[in-house]
Amino acid sequence: MGKQPADHGFDVIVIGAGAAGMMCAATAGRRKRRVLLIDHAARLAEKIRISGGGRCNFTNRHVGAGNYLSRNPHFVRSALSRYTAGDFIGLVERHGIRYHERDWGQLFCDDSAQQIIDMLRAECEDGGVRWAMPATVRRIEHHGEAAPEPFVVDTDRGSFAARSLVIATGGLSIPKIGATPFGYKVAEQFGVPVVPPRPALVPLTLPPETLARLAPLAGASFDVTAACGGGSFREAALITHRGLSGPAILQVSSYWQAQGYDRQDGASDDGGNGWAPVTLDLLPGIDAQAWLLEHAHDRGLLANLLAERLPRRFAHAWCELHGWQRPLNRFRHAELRAVAAELSAWTLMPSGTQGYAKAEVTLGGVDTRALSSKTMEARDRPGLFFVGEVMDVTGHLGGYNFQWAWSSGHAAGMAA
Ligand code: FDA
Repeated sequence: MGKQPADHGFDVIVIGAGAAGMMCAATAGRRKRRVLLIDHAARLAEKIRISGGGRCNFTNRHVGAGNYLSRNPHFVRSALSRYTAGDFIGLVERHGIRYHERDWGQLFCDDSAQQIIDMLRAECEDGGVRWAMPATVRRIEHHGEAAPEPFVVDTDRGSFAARSLVIATGGLSIPKIGATPFGYKVAEQFGVPVVPPRPALVPLTLPPETLARLAPLAGASFDVTAACGGGSFREAALITHRGLSGPAILQVSSYWQAQGYDRQDGASDDGGNGWAPVTLDLLPGIDAQAWLLEHAHDRGLLANLLAERLPRRFAHAWCELHGWQRPLNRFRHAELRAVAAELSAWTLMPSGTQGYAKAEVTLGGVDTRALSSKTMEARDRPGLFFVGEVMDVTGHLGGYNFQWAWSSGHAAGMAA
């Protein structure tokens, strides 16, 4: 049988019906562009569904360029200023979705993340978007800039041609719900550079000897300021049976300098050689030295004093770990200064990360230096756009990644 002719009834083809892809398709559709949205998954937008513990932290009231990592740190400014958190909140309110604010300006649905999916689907319907889902993309061809519809996408549901092609297939995190390196391969096909991807917002692992020493602390959660590689975050940290987790650790994991991510699952472990340390201030905002010296004559155990500001079990296990199970008045001042230094900068050397299976996002991706910050279009390939997490733009924890999906999707939707 000969090749079926491509369906030319589209102006824009969007591949990937997640957060960024649906926003892009709906925006282009409202501009009366004829849009086809393709996804290989059987269920729509699984990542939105599981996000924010099922309540989707859909944006943050305090979004700024400083909340994102990218090789090109100014890249995000234009799109974020043209489709703001306020714009998305307005959309949520127009759809009657109730939401609430948590710490640091994070906004969550009151009821369910499914409401955000339903809202985006309804927006796509209003824009007359057509769907090919589930559909497997077999090949993308480019028929030259002179062709009226240069991009031809061949799928198991037929071939489709369009003037604009938007890649919104996300990053590599959580492969079991459909993450693939598809977007990076398309970039490669069209000569668009890719910053090597690696897991981010991910728990860090500790080497076995450290884990053995920390075993009594497993399960302990405490507020810290965690710092690593230029990033510093005041939130909760958690010691697990594999290493370090909790929001503060997920945040600094994006800054953790690591090399050699060559395992397929993105997990890494080199036994602790050559990685950056993570420093935990266990008494954030407190002058530990002044506080300890104030109590230098107390007869009680150091651990009991620490338990005033740290979980009791943690305070005792931490003192035991350091061999500091004495009453305060049995410490020399120099020793108390050493204790204070350790409390303010307890340094642990992770050996790796738990990989894409546990990572919320992917650091790296399509190099933003090769894209227009206004439209997300590849500078050297007119009509080819990249939006959302597939790009080298990674937000902090707290709703910033979805805001990037909305802002970049909207920018491309206005241009494609
Ligand atoms: P997304 O991953 O959403 O969508 C990509 C789409 O492309 C998917 O539908 C996929 O099926 C499809 N696709 C992939 N490969 C394909 C192929 N080869 N062919 C066709 N289709 C293909 N962020 C935040 O701001 N607030 C939060 O609360 C959370 N919570 C959260 C929890 C968990 C557990 C995770 C893993 C992640 C988060 N995130 C988050 C991050 C957030 O989910 C993420 O940044 C966005 O979903 C990215 O949106 P995209 O549209 O770029 O990719």
